[in-house]
Amino acid sequence: MEFSKLWLDYRKLADNRSRVIISCDKTLKDSAAFEELKIAMASMVPDAIVLWKSEVFDDDSCLIVLTIRPELSEEEYDIAASANITEICAGSETGLLYGVFAFLRKIALAGRFISFTAHKKPSQPIRMLNHWDEADGDIERGYSGKSFFFVNEELEVNERTVMYARLMASIGINGVVINNVNVRRKAKLLLSIEFAESLTNLGELFARYGIKLFICPDFAAPKTICGLDTADPLDENVIEWWNTTCALIFSKIKNLGGFLVKADSEGEPGPMAYGRTHADGANMLARAVKPYGGIVIWRCFVYNCTQDWRDKKTDRACASYDNFIGLDGQFDDNVYLQAKNGPVDFQIREPVHPLFGAMKNTNLIIEFQLAQEYTGQQKHVCWLIPMFKEIMEHHTRHDLPDDRVSRIVCGVAAVANTGDSYCWTGSELAAANLYGYGRLLFDEDVSCTELAEEWTRLMFGDDEKVTSAVKEILLDSKQAYEDYTVPLGIGWMCHPNDHYGPSPWGYEFDRWGTYNRADRDAVGVDRSASGSGYSEQYAPALADVYGDITKCPDELLLFFHRVPYTHRLHSGKTVIQHIYDTHFEGYAKAEHFAELWHGLEGKIDDRTFKNGCERFAEQLRCAKEWRDIINCFFHRLSGIDDENGREIY
Ligand code: GCU
Repeated sequence: MEFSKLWLDYRKLADNRSRVIISCDKTLKDSAAFEELKIAMASMVPDAIVLWKSEVFDDDSCLIVLTIRPELSEEEYDIAASANITEICAGSETGLLYGVFAFLRKIALAGRFISFTAHKKPSQPIRMLNHWDEADGDIERGYSGKSFFFVNEELEVNERTVMYARLMASIGINGVVINNVNVRRKAKLLLSIEFAESLTNLGELFARYGIKLFICPDFAAPKTICGLDTADPLDENVIEWWNTTCALIFSKIKNLGGFLVKADSEGEPGPMAYGRTHADGANMLARAVKPYGGIVIWRCFVYNCTQDWRDKKTDRACASYDNFIGLDGQFDDNVYLQAKNGPVDFQIREPVHPLFGAMKNTNLIIEFQLAQEYTGQQKHVCWLIPMFKEIMEHHTRHDLPDDRVSRIVCGVAAVANTGDSYCWTGSELAAANLYGYGRLLFDEDVSCTELAEEWTRLMFGDDEKVTSAVKEILLDSKQAYEDYTVPLGIGWMCHPNDHYGPSPWGYEFDRWGTYNRADRDAVGVDRSASGSGYSEQYAPALADVYGDITKCPDELLLFFHRVPYTHRLHSGKTVIQHIYDTHFEGYAKAEHFAELWHGLEGKIDDRTFKNGCERFAEQLRCAKEWRDIINCFFHRLSGIDDENGREIY
C-alpha cells in the first residue's frame, strides 16, 4: 500500500549547490545518519552531486562533517552550521542521527543552508510508542486502517516499516512496543520460535534507527505455550520456563528491550490469580530479562471492571493508586510502572494520576493516548500536545526537589495512532499529534505554538494562509473538543464500547465504574474526603484544593464534586449555564475550523484537502449531536432554561 512520507518529504531548497560533501569516518558510511543525509540532499539540492569526503571544495560546495565525540552522551548532539560548512557531533550513531534530523529540519524550515548552533540531549530518557496491533492485523482502538507490522499473521519488514523507523527516529522515539497489551490469539505465540526470525529482522531495522523493540508477552505463556498447569510467578517451573525462554529470545533478538505487561486488568492474566502481588509478577519477569539488559514495564491500569452501578462506595478512580501504592519500593530496579496520565482512562479532562510523586521508590512511566479513542477518533481534529505539556508541567505538590511530573517520571509512552492508511493516521491532521509527542519528549522547552507551526510548514510548505489556518485549528482544537463533549471534567458521556458520539447515560447503568450520577438536582461524583476519598490520594496541598468545593478548579469540578446545577463556578457562571455556553461555543469553534480548512482549497494538495473536508464534515455532524444531546439532557433533568434563550431541543 502507498504511504506518505509525512514530515520527511524533503522539499527543494532555494539555494543550489553543485556539490554536497559528507565527510565522516569510514565506519559511519553505512550509518542511518549518513544515509538520511543522502536521501535528503537528493531532494533538497537535486542538482548537486553528493560525495563522501572530497579534495575539491569551493563556494558552490556544502560540507557536512559527522563526528562521534565520546565525551557527549549517547543521544546527545552538537551542531555548528554555517551556510557552507556544518559540523554535527554526537555521542553515538543514534545521537548523530538525531543531530542530522535536527539539521535537516532547520534547513527545511529555512528553505536554505543557514548558520545556527544547537546542542541538545533528550528531556526524557525513555520515549516510547505502544502499538495496540493484533497478530491478525486489526488494531485495538485503531482509526487509521490495519496494522503494518502484522500482515497475514506474519511480522513484516518492508518499505513501510523502514519509513516508519525513519519517521520515529526523526522525532526521537527510542522504544516501540509492536503488539497490543491485550495479548490475544496468535500474539500469544510471539515468544515462540515461530516469530523469532521476523522479530530478529524487525529488531535489526529498529536498532539501525536507535529504537529498542518491545513486545507484550502473554503472562500465562507457561500455560499457553509450554503446557504447564500454572503461570504462578513463584512456581519453580514457571520461573525456569521464563528464564530459558528469555535466554533464547534475547540471544536471537539482539535489540530486544524487554516486555510491556498488562496484568490482572480487564480479563488479562496476572499474578493475582495465584494470590501473588504485582511486584511478585513483575520481578519474576524482570529477573528473567535482567542478564540481557532488558526491562519490564508493568501497567498500573488495574481496577474492578465488573462493578455494580448501584454500588456507590466503589470508585474506579481510586483503584490504580490503591492497587500499587503499598508496593512502593518492592520492585526490582529494571521494573518500570506505567500509569495512565489520569486515574480513569484517557478522557479529555482528568486530574493527573495520583501515583506520580507518591511512589517515591519506584521507576514510573506516564502513558498518554495518541489514538483518539475518547477524543474524536481521528475524525475530529483534537491536537493533544497542549494537554500533554500541561500534564508534564503539572506540580504534584509532593515534597520533592522538583515536584513536576516531567521530573518524577523516567519516561513517557503513548498508545500509537498509526495504521496502514496512506497518511498513517487516518486523518492528515492527526499526524500532528504523533509529531508533537516525539518532539516534546525530546525537547520539553519547545512551545506548542512553535510545534504547531513547525509541523504545518514541514508538511504543507510555506504558504502563510495555510500555516496560519492550520496552526489556529491545531492550537484551538483540544479546547473545542472539551467544550462540546465534556463539561467540567465529568467525562464518559460517550457511547459504550466504541466510545464515539454522545450518550450521556450510556455508561450510567453499566459495570465499568464510569458514572456521572446526574439527576434533576445535581451532577458529578463526590470524590472528596467525605465522598469516595479519592482526593486524599494527592499530596496534602493538592488534596486540600481538589477536596474543597470552593477551591477546586472549574474544569475538574464535576470530577471531584457533586453539585446542584445552580452552583456558581469561579468563572461566575452557574454549572448549567456553563454547560450550555461551552456546548454552543465548542460547536461554533468546530464550524470555524471547517471554514478555515475550506479556505485552503488549491493551496494544499488535493488528497490532503479532501481528507480534511471529509473529516470536518463528520466532526461537524457529530459535534452538533454532542451539543444538542448534552444540552437537551441537562435541560430536561434540571428544568432550567438557557439565559440566552438559544434553542435547546
Ligand atoms: C481502554 C480501552 C481498551 C484498552 C484499555 C487499556 O479501556 O478501551 O481497549 O484495552 O484501555 O488501556 O488496557
